[in-house]
Amino acid sequence: MKILFVGDVVGSPGRKMIDTYLPKLKRKYQPLVTIVNGENAAHGRGITGKIVKGIFEAGAQAITLGNHAWDNREIFEIIDSTPQLVRPANFPAGTPGSGSAILKMNQLEIGIINLQGRTFLPPLDCPFEKAEQLVEEMRKRTPVIFVDFHAEATSEKQAMGWFLDGKVTAVVGTHTHVQTADQRILPQGTAYLTDVGMTGPYDGILGMDREAVLKKFLTSLPVRFEVSSGREQLSGVLIECDPATGKAKSIKTILINDDHPFFE
Ligand SMILES: [Fe+2]
Ligand SMILES: [Fe+2]
Repeated sequence: MKILFVGDVVGSPGRKMIDTYLPKLKRKYQPLVTIVNGENAAHGRGITGKIVKGIFEAGAQAITLGNHAWDNREIFEIIDSTPQLVRPANFPAGTPGSGSAILKMNQLEIGIINLQGRTFLPPLDCPFEKAEQLVEEMRKRTPVIFVDFHAEATSEKQAMGWFLDGKVTAVVGTHTHVQTADQRILPQGTAYLTDVGMTGPYDGILGMDREAVLKKFLTSLPVRFEVSSGREQLSGVLIECDPATGKAKSIKTILINDDHPFFE
């Protein structure tokens, strides 16, 4: 069985890429489950009910989040009634929503866990402890577990990959918005990728308008970042696993932009 995951959708350019390419990617690769990170889907900051609906209509069954989860307050209207919308599990106890979900597709259960790193990001509960606890619970139901580790530091993401090797199907990183080329299957069968990359503007700086980001670097003055316009890209990853054991068989990165055209 295959899992398709698409990295951080940024604003309307990202949503446009989801609408255009998610159906094509699903036709081409036939994943059993499709997951999208939507933490930047609403103008680069958070997500709304309407956008969640749009991503599901485009073909995803679950959405993960990250440090921008609460940037748009409309999320509070839907998060508790939308179990497939998953926020980082190591947010403080009592936070709205859930950090994990189990989807049932064709009689197969697929566990999804979203975690957030603590290196160069605001302090949170320990993602490793939380991962261990959630994985132990989930494995009583299914060995197929997908982890989106939303973190800044490559070292923290690699550490999570090795920490969960053999216990989950995949550990993939999000948040840094640039796809890395280190996809591999770890020795005990966990697929790993440091960062899936971003889905949205191709010519911005991490998806944001270049002028504003440059002004910030050049002057240190306060600047409001806006989502960049122009050409777009999609970044994703495809993982194939044995549904009986949850062990990964292959991991392949997906990049669609003017320099990496899509072939049906
Ligand atoms: Fe992001
Ligand atoms: Fe992020």
